[in-house]
Amino acid sequence: MEASAFRVEKIASREILDSRGNPTVQVDLHTKSGFGRFSVPSGASKGHLEALELRDGERQRYNGLGVQKALENISRVIAPKILGLDSRDQPKIDRLLNELDGTENKSKLGANAILGISIALARASADTANSPLYRTIADGRKLVLPLPMMNIINGGKHAGNDLSFQEFMVIPAGFKTFHEALRCGSEVYHALKARLEAKYGKSAINVGDEGGFAPDIESVEEALGQISDAVEEAGYSPGQNVVLGVDAAADSFYNEDKKTYLVDGKQIGSQDLFELYAGIERSFPVKSIEDPFHDEDFDNFAKITKKLGSRFQIVGDDLFVTNIKRVEKGIRLGAANALLVKVNQIGTLTETIEAVEKARQAGYGLVMSHRSGETEDTSIADISVGLATGQIKTGAPARGERTCKYNRLLQIEEELGSGASFYGPEFLKKHQ
Ligand code: PGA
Ligand code: ZN
Repeated sequence: MEASAFRVEKIASREILDSRGNPTVQVDLHTKSGFGRFSVPSGASKGHLEALELRDGERQRYNGLGVQKALENISRVIAPKILGLDSRDQPKIDRLLNELDGTENKSKLGANAILGISIALARASADTANSPLYRTIADGRKLVLPLPMMNIINGGKHAGNDLSFQEFMVIPAGFKTFHEALRCGSEVYHALKARLEAKYGKSAINVGDEGGFAPDIESVEEALGQISDAVEEAGYSPGQNVVLGVDAAADSFYNEDKKTYLVDGKQIGSQDLFELYAGIERSFPVKSIEDPFHDEDFDNFAKITKKLGSRFQIVGDDLFVTNIKRVEKGIRLGAANALLVKVNQIGTLTETIEAVEKARQAGYGLVMSHRSGETEDTSIADISVGLATGQIKTGAPARGERTCKYNRLLQIEEELGSGASFYGPEFLKKHQ
């Protein structure tokens, strides 16, 4: 194929709505012979060091959440510098985007503007090369279908209930293939729905931002108990083929002045919180816990990793914000043993890959992740396979903006045929 086929010829962007009904950025990027589109997601429980999502702040439109300034930055500042370049020069173009912005957290042009371009570019390159995105991203790496971590009870900032922890996940690891794992997750989801409705009434099956149920239950243990029972009821074996995970998102219930955490109605210190994790690890088949402490508490992350990390995945999300410098610090201190990977926390594909490779070299697990505010975009499914992250969390096996990622993984599995390898059993072996 001629090099000129990859020349960037046209960039357009628009304001669309995300799954919470808030505006977000969508970018269309045309090369001479191909096309790429990306829609930028948006978080609710953001790490304070995330790259900045630029919002207009003018109250008349969308309560100040409009993204017209980001669109203007794309058309006036970014597009003129990128038109004419070769779309395959992703690292060079991502560096150029950072230079044009010039700030540490992409606050001048907006990480939503920058990321929109960065991933639309990757998609356009893949399309121009007539290749699926996961293949161009893999760049020779082995392709791996990720283990889905499905958030089936929602709390924290994602739901209108009193659960402090944000996410309670079912992790169907003991299966040979992605599609069997997904089926198990869906069956457990429906078994849980029936249980919750029978026990707590109809309103318990309303769902939160990520498609999981948002029952009015008030304790971590009760939520985990309901899920364990649902796993059994669906005909699976908790602790054997199905394990559980939580994302505490501890920042969202941390009181910085008092240095306490508000868990299930009680103010507790970090030592009590530590005990709570050790307790749920003893009582339930929990194998993964994300953001157990607030996002500057590297010490307690290191302590829990030392104590439980040999058989338990400790994931850093708000702690690392997909930022290589934070990952390096975590590795130095032994804080966490897995990295949550969110493209919009750092704002370019190249920097995402750098953080992933740094974590991988240190033996950290990798979990590709959606945001609580999502769109119909499926790029993270491809990125997860191409970067062989081994795990993905993209919500419940319900609601279109969540299922589109899982459904894309089913297509990829089919395309790879017998060459598809699924990470589930390896996860179980690693965390026995
Ligand atoms: P967020 O939640 O997208 O609201 O940040 C997801 C997570 O904390 O993992
Ligand atoms: Zn998280």
